[in-house]
Amino acid sequence: IRTIGVMTSGGDSPGMNAAIRAVARACAYYNVKCIGFYRGYQGMIEGDHCILNARSVRNIISRGGTILKSARSKDFRTVEGRKKAAEHLKKLEVDAMVLIGGDGTFRGGEIFSKEYDIPIIGVPGTIDNDIAGTNYTIGYDTALNTVINAIDKIRDTASSHDRLFFIEVMGRDAGFIALNTGVGAGAEEILIPEENLGLDRLLESLKRSKRSGKSSSIVVVSEGDKIGKNVYELADYVTDNLPDYDVRVTVLGHMQRGGSPTCFDRTLASRLCVKAVELLLDGEKNVMVGIINNEISATTFDVGLKEDHGINRELLRISDILST
Ligand code: F6P
Repeated sequence: IRTIGVMTSGGDSPGMNAAIRAVARACAYYNVKCIGFYRGYQGMIEGDHCILNARSVRNIISRGGTILKSARSKDFRTVEGRKKAAEHLKKLEVDAMVLIGGDGTFRGGEIFSKEYDIPIIGVPGTIDNDIAGTNYTIGYDTALNTVINAIDKIRDTASSHDRLFFIEVMGRDAGFIALNTGVGAGAEEILIPEENLGLDRLLESLKRSKRSGKSSSIVVVSEGDKIGKNVYELADYVTDNLPDYDVRVTVLGHMQRGGSPTCFDRTLASRLCVKAVELLLDGEKNVMVGIINNEISATTFDVGLKEDHGINRELLRISDILST
């Protein structure tokens, strides 16, 4: 292998730059040329690329976002799109690819690797932490800390005004961000897609907390929650049923994807990407690198999403006890 390509795809996540840096530096270390493609698969299709040497990735380890930009390419879902991508890789003499992204990225990589004989290693990068084959995805830890900081600030104003806040967090269909930040920020209730607690239980819990003397409360709601109402409808429902509560809603949104990555995410990205390059040089292909019990592991692409999202229900129990 003389040339390795790298790209970031899907929703960006903090630590993707640390990952790009690690791929480029590991390539430089092993005397392999490194080419970065812009906007994920779209850059491969259009041949939009740059040469990444050890110096071109200086000072990016601490930066959020991705210098290669990211996208969810519709064109790559077509046979013609993938053909164009393969042609560009051939023209640029790219022998193998490192794909940094989430579930959608790996599904694309799996199809591509079946159609064209290009070795691929996937690196899990998403704030959602929903990818099977790894305990942690790059960006998740930073997102948790960003959310915790935001909730702490909202708690200040909630408590000054004796208000109840519904705070919606990201995670797509998985409740990792909600569950862990809910416990970490001391939320009254945590609503996640994996466990439908029901509206009655929510009302009961809020009544109980009022009786116990709490004057303000935080409810963390995962965006994929299945309670049957969106966060605004939920707030209206509680206002209608518990008029004593002064309710507000905050949707944290895309700020959860930004910011300088935590040390954990930088280290994770560095470890996974050095391994990705080494696996390619060892002749390995079509696997995703991940971290399980602090050991680097490799699993096949088709592993998909975490079963039941691997949610730790013990945390719900802990949250129940601690919100007494
Ligand atoms: O997958 C990461 C993620 O941030 C999800 O948590 C969220 O549902 C989605 O991406 C938002 O996507 P977009 O940036 O396209 O709005």
